Amino acid sequence: MNISLHDGPLAELECDALVEPLAGGAALGQAAEAQIAALRESGEIAGKPSELTILHEPKELAAKRLMLLGVGDALDANQAFRMAGQAVRGAQQRKFKRVVIALADGELVRAVAEGCAYGGYERPKYKSDESAAAVEEILIVAPGADTGVFEAGRIVGESVNVTRRLVDTPANDLGPEEFADMAESMGKAAGLDVEVLDEPALEALGAGSLLSVARGSARPPRLVRLSWNPTDATGDSHLFLVGKGVTFDTGGLSLKPANSMEKMKYDMAGAATMLGAITAIARLGLPQRVSCLLGLVENMPSGTATRPGDIVQAMNGKTIEVINTDAEGRLVLADALTYAVREGATHLIDAATLTGAVSVALGAVNIGLMSNNDSLQSHITASGQSIGEQFWALPMNDEYLEPMKGDLSDLRNAGTDRKAGTITAAKFLEQFVDGTPWAHLDIAGTANLDKGVPNAPKGASGIAVRSLVRVVENWANGGLG
Ligand code: BES
Ligand code: MN
Ligand code: ZN
Repeated sequence: MNISLHDGPLAELECDALVEPLAGGAALGQAAEAQIAALRESGEIAGKPSELTILHEPKELAAKRLMLLGVGDALDANQAFRMAGQAVRGAQQRKFKRVVIALADGELVRAVAEGCAYGGYERPKYKSDESAAAVEEILIVAPGADTGVFEAGRIVGESVNVTRRLVDTPANDLGPEEFADMAESMGKAAGLDVEVLDEPALEALGAGSLLSVARGSARPPRLVRLSWNPTDATGDSHLFLVGKGVTFDTGGLSLKPANSMEKMKYDMAGAATMLGAITAIARLGLPQRVSCLLGLVENMPSGTATRPGDIVQAMNGKTIEVINTDAEGRLVLADALTYAVREGATHLIDAATLTGAVSVALGAVNIGLMSNNDSLQSHITASGQSIGEQFWALPMNDEYLEPMKGDLSDLRNAGTDRKAGTITAAKFLEQFVDGTPWAHLDIAGTANLDKGVPNAPKGASGIAVRSLVRVVENWANGGLG
């Protein structure tokens, strides 16, 4: 699928479908506009978001069809992203080959380019009868659009799809080593420095918390470091993006019931998110120093697995009683966060499918956001808001640490009940950031779609990649760094 910017008279463009958003769309000429107006007057079209109407042989246009898409009262970046994705998916289903998206101007070309790439996502292929995608060409007509901005949108949309493909890949094909190999090749291709730490290297670093999770699996863990160190970096800040990469979470000896385990291949979504974000940041050549750490492990029960009640020592020296081996994500992140601080992080953001409790609190609507720093927190919220990804900040009072304090040890990895499970997990993580400005994104409720939506099939959503790219793009504006 080739996505490009096009300029030229719309009426003469031959295509299988000309996509027109019902607000912010291009002028189509009197005849076609009268056809649309008639449909609106009769009440057949209301223009609500994701409403799709197809009109055959539109008047005085070379297009075979008009694909009319509702976007609400006004086209904003969020609606433009969704509309473009829905248009591409709609075109795929109908086997259209050549599609034109017609905008009034160039203002939303970034969102539309991201949306087209997002809508063109191809899931990993496991079906024996899978046919090739139909759409060959998408032309975006957006008078005055900046080619660089368009290009940036394509890059970011493709990076989100990299994240989604990793998340959708089953764990038999993606363990810690395979993930590390992918991260290495993708990172290098994007111009990043890559370093892969294996088990002996992690032992030498004293990563006893992360290693305790890997112990039950036949597949050894990895910690991947990707670094973006541009020569034109503005300011002295060094942001670290840290991702939970549990390639499969059985719960370990505190085994999950079958129906809760079924989807646990997506427990590496945090790592996939951060990999997608940093490869996009490098491809865009953003002038900020950014590193990424991926903590990759498989959580399995076995004769060598960590037992409930075992006490392990984290890289920062703190001891942790493993009350529940299913609270493994925080054990992985603990050492990854410590390592980031040691490596000179001035700011930290982690992403993790950390708690089932975040879905109870926020459903699939908001990402749970927890931070020790108000300006970082509001910077993330605002960056997400600008493109329609929603973050909801949860309180971080000291009292929430109480259940995580150990009896025989410094800390315990789970409390005695489920109360405020998302926050108590974050308070545990906070013990490993050593006061560095830090934000934690709990994406357990949002990283995977239980059912399809107009612009995406069920499965990985790729959420937070686009926001994180904006976080870095807007870094100086946010008063950070
Ligand atoms: N990976 C899970 C969290 C999760 C649950 C992600 C559902 C996606 C969907 C995490 O490792 C986990 O098992 N957390 C436990 C923590 C508890 C044992 C303190 C949970 O949320 O139940
Ligand atoms: Mn778990
Ligand atoms: Zn997990």
